[in-house]
Amino acid sequence: MAKVEEVSTAPARSGADDADRLVKDTGAPVPEPRFRTPFVIEFYRSAVGKKWVMAVTGVIGMGFVFAHMIGNLHVFEGPGQINHYGEWLRELLDPPFPRTFTLWMLRVTLIGAIALHLHAAYALTRMNQKARPVKYQADRDYVAATFAARTMRWTGVIVLLFLLFHLADFTWGSANPGFERGDVYRNVVASFEQWPVSAIYIVANIALGVHLYHGAWSLFQSVGLNNPRFNPWRRWFATAFAVITTIGFISVPIAVLAGVVE
Ligand code: HEM
Repeated sequence: MAKVEEVSTAPARSGADDADRLVKDTGAPVPEPRFRTPFVIEFYRSAVGKKWVMAVTGVIGMGFVFAHMIGNLHVFEGPGQINHYGEWLRELLDPPFPRTFTLWMLRVTLIGAIALHLHAAYALTRMNQKARPVKYQADRDYVAATFAARTMRWTGVIVLLFLLFHLADFTWGSANPGFERGDVYRNVVASFEQWPVSAIYIVANIALGVHLYHGAWSLFQSVGLNNPRFNPWRRWFATAFAVITTIGFISVPIAVLAGVVE
C-alpha cells in the first residue's frame, strides 16, 4: 500500500501544493482544485501575514494620529485658524472632487485599517493560545518584556473606547455641552473646560502614547527588519514618535484648563 510519510510542520500551504505532494507521495491522481485561494488571503492566514497586516495598518494609524496632532496645534493660533483648518479638510481636493469626498475616502481607509488591525491582533492571540494551550509553569520573564509590550491589549482597548467618546464629543456632538457644527474652536473649549473630560483625554492619550511606543518599535520586527545593529535607532524612533505625539495631543486640554486657550 502506498504510504503518505511526513507529518508537516511547515507553514500552511495552498490546496495546489497539497495536491502536488499527494501525487508525489502516493502516485494517485488528484483532481485539480476548482478554486485557488487568492495569495493575499493565503498569506493573511499565516502568522507572518497577520504581522504584516498589523504593521501596515499600524503605520496608517500612526500617520493619521501624527497628522491629526499637528493639525490640532492650530488651536493655539485662535478660532480663525483652527476653524479654517477644519473647513480645509472638508474641501480637500475640491475641485475636481465633490466637497468632503476626499475626507470620506480618508475615513473609509482609516476605518478599514482599524478593523484589520483589530482582527489581526485577535487572530494572532488565538493562534498563540492554540500553539500553547497550557499556561507557562513558571512566571514568564516579564522583566524582559517592557511595560508597553505587556499592556498592548489594554492600551488598545482604552484607545478604542476613547475614540468612540471622542467622535461623540467633536464629530457627532452628542457628548459635547456646547456643540456647534463647524466651530471647532468653540467645541474644543466647551469640552475641555470640564476637567473630568480633560482628564479622560489626558489619560487616554497617555495610553495611546504607550501603545504607539511599542507599536513603533515592533513594526520593524513584524516586517523582518530586525537586525540588532538598528535597535538603537528603532528605540530612538519609537520613543521620539510616542513622546512628541502624546505631548502634542495633551497640550490642548492642558491649555484649556490653564486658561491659555479660552
Ligand atoms: C487632545 C487630543 C485631541 C483633540 C483636541 C482632538 C480634536 C479633534 C477635533 C476638534 C475633531 C473634529 C474635527 C472637525 O470636525 O473638523 C476631531 C476628529 C477626530 N479625531 Fe481627534 N482629537 C484628539 C485626539 C485624537 C486621537 C488620539 C485620535 C485617534 C486615536 C483621534 C481621532 C479622531 C478622529 C477619527 C476624528 C474624526 C475625523 C473625521 O472623520 O472627521 N483624535 N478630533
